[in-house]
Amino acid sequence: MNKENIINNTVNFVKNELSGEGSGHDWWHIHRVTELTKTMAEEENADIFICTLSALLHDIADEKLNKSEEEGIQKVRNWLVSQNVDNHSIEIVIEIISTISFKGGNGPIITRLESKIVQDADRIDAIGAIGIARCFVYTGAKGRVIHDPNIEVRENMSKEEYRNNEGTAINHFYEKLLKLKDLMNTDTGKRIAHERHLFMQSFLEQFYSEWDGKR
Ligand code: ADP
Ligand code: NI
Repeated sequence: MNKENIINNTVNFVKNELSGEGSGHDWWHIHRVTELTKTMAEEENADIFICTLSALLHDIADEKLNKSEEEGIQKVRNWLVSQNVDNHSIEIVIEIISTISFKGGNGPIITRLESKIVQDADRIDAIGAIGIARCFVYTGAKGRVIHDPNIEVRENMSKEEYRNNEGTAINHFYEKLLKLKDLMNTDTGKRIAHERHLFMQSFLEQFYSEWDGKR
């Protein structure tokens, strides 16, 4: 098992699987999450190979890209088997990617350090300058507006409401983005999320001033 080859092959596999993906799960999201995961894994003394492999594959099994989550998991398993990854590592990677998805906050509690890191990295990519950009792209793709003071922020959404209901880009900050810093598992995640959170707050402050014609 040559870890470097497996990682390189997996990069190509994921690029190919995600080409043309328009829901915010493009290759560059995977690239950013993987780089952040590596940085965090080093700081947290975690298994870098397991972390990197899981970060690369974390969206391949997503229910948005497959007929079902089970089918997506099978796709990941087949890939890892084809790369001669040992069974123990395969089970760990499958465990990680099947537990980390956000789903409106209704996911399971996770205990493995490597899962915590990849989940933190995935959530961190939804905040800060990148997170703001992704939020507006998603909003535009759904044909929704930037902001409407008459549309209320939605609290305690179910998984279905989170996916399907109408909303605005600015409301998404209150419904998800500003909550993410408190959901960090690791100290490294908390530190990075804190900085990005401050950036989003100052963005919102500027946004409202401009909205009201004050600046
Ligand atoms: P994940 O939970 O796997 O990150 P999502 O599809 O929920 O995937 O989100 C993809 C990107 O789109 C994220 O940056 C997220 O913040 C953004 N996004 C998701 N839902 C909304 C929404 N209702 N309004 C604006 N942006 C959204
Ligand atoms: Ni992701």
